[in-house]
Amino acid sequence: MKNAFVGRSLCVIEDFSIEERQYLFSKIRELKAAVRAEDLEAQQKFRLEDPNFGIYEVFLEDSTRTKESFRNAAKFHHAKVSELATSSSSFNKGESYADTFNTLTGYSNKIFIVRSKVEGVCAHLAKECAEFANRNELTKVPSFINAGDGRHEHPTQELLDEYTFLEDNDFNYDNLHVALVGDLFHGRTVHSKAKGLSIFKNVTVDLVAPKELGMPDSYLLIMKENGFTVNLYSSIDEYLNSGNVAKQWYFTRPQLERMGEQILKRQDELRASITFKKEFMDRLPEGSKFYHPLPRHKMFPTIPTFLDKTSLNGWERQSINGMYTRICLLGLLGGSIGSDFIPTRPVVKENFQDEEYIFEVEPKNASKTKEYSEGVNPISNGIVIDHIGVGDNPEEIREHMSLIVKVLELNGKGGEWVSQGKEDKYKGIIFRPGDIEFSRKELKRLAAVASGCTLNIIKNKKVVKKYRTTLPPRIYNFDDLACTNENCISNPANGEGVPAMFHKTSDNKYECIYCGKNHSFTEIWNNVKKKN
Ligand code: CP
Repeated sequence: MKNAFVGRSLCVIEDFSIEERQYLFSKIRELKAAVRAEDLEAQQKFRLEDPNFGIYEVFLEDSTRTKESFRNAAKFHHAKVSELATSSSSFNKGESYADTFNTLTGYSNKIFIVRSKVEGVCAHLAKECAEFANRNELTKVPSFINAGDGRHEHPTQELLDEYTFLEDNDFNYDNLHVALVGDLFHGRTVHSKAKGLSIFKNVTVDLVAPKELGMPDSYLLIMKENGFTVNLYSSIDEYLNSGNVAKQWYFTRPQLERMGEQILKRQDELRASITFKKEFMDRLPEGSKFYHPLPRHKMFPTIPTFLDKTSLNGWERQSINGMYTRICLLGLLGGSIGSDFIPTRPVVKENFQDEEYIFEVEPKNASKTKEYSEGVNPISNGIVIDHIGVGDNPEEIREHMSLIVKVLELNGKGGEWVSQGKEDKYKGIIFRPGDIEFSRKELKRLAAVASGCTLNIIKNKKVVKKYRTTLPPRIYNFDDLACTNENCISNPANGEGVPAMFHKTSDNKYECIYCGKNHSFTEIWNNVKKKN
């Protein structure tokens, strides 16, 4: 039977379906039992024992747990461990991620473990290196494991966190009530939870953080879409007064290295609101457990060390679970385990192509065709983009039209105006005289920048073609698109040459496929504004 896991990458937590994660957790549980029972035969069933299997660690940010647990996990498998000395590598000569990893791919490396402050790097590399392998007729394409990318995700941490929550919930997937406490703005481990925790059926998440360190809206939206009940509190003290306190608390450290000057100045005050104190002990529910992805700061730990020897301590076992999780993950990707996994539900891949967003509509009866004017005269030949920003205020509509003109390069003769249409709502109209045609690609740009508008093609004073647009499900393949997250692999400032690509979210935002940042349809054309 084909092993569903072999050769896969784990760039974000959702790269493994809920069923696949549940399977992984059953294997971690088995392995831990085998180790505890010192059952060498049972442990051996997990081992790869493949002389061609190895991991290549490329860490461009510091790490102890992730790096060393992968190294020890690889040793369990008797596998080769390589490490790129990133501080003395050709990264320092301005080499791109793609060139660096293509080079290493050519040396028969199959699993890369990558940590970087650049977000979305693994998704980009998985694609790049697969193409490199194919054009160089290599027998296998490499897998990528995201060991933490900026503020984006830390999927293997998410796996071990989910496993540890389960362990403390008698392996019951029905309910999870967890408090996420700390720097929810910068912390990638809590961002992975927005999607990751959906392995549980009923999820309540209490977010405990001052406003400055609060969970970004995009992750809040995902949590709500996943059916989680979400409650917000600005400090531990306020949370403990709420009357509905979770037994499971997940702390994260203030990520000083990712904070701006203004927030750094207030770090003591912000840290105080998310640091557990002795006097809080009596207000915790019976059987509470604390977790932390670690490291914690030796001078300013949010879980103070006096708690280490109490029953609250779940973080030490959580850290140990990291190695078992990574042994099993490598076992799955290498194929020592996983061949008995049979999904009961097909993995649903979003099919963005199905949704149409440009509609050609019949121009009205020729005798009644609306006449658009060019100043005081009717337009003989040209285009009119109508119904722009219906209902917005005139200032917004003018800005919107200016963006449309830039994006579609509607330079030359013509004009823009704001008029009052139905129900006295304002709308924008752009007209351009001349023999102007719109290709499919230009129509797509129009839909992306002016959803809900109509485009009228006028010949001999008649509307001969009319299109209506809605927001496209995906936007890509345009040089002037840009993700506005300066840490994203596709942000032009990073110089990696990765074209931006967005997909539409349920609330009509555009999510970067690399870093997950949400944008309004005007923001994705950021590069256009810069060029002008
Ligand atoms: N939890 C975690 O990622 O720890 P390290 O930074 O030490 O790898």
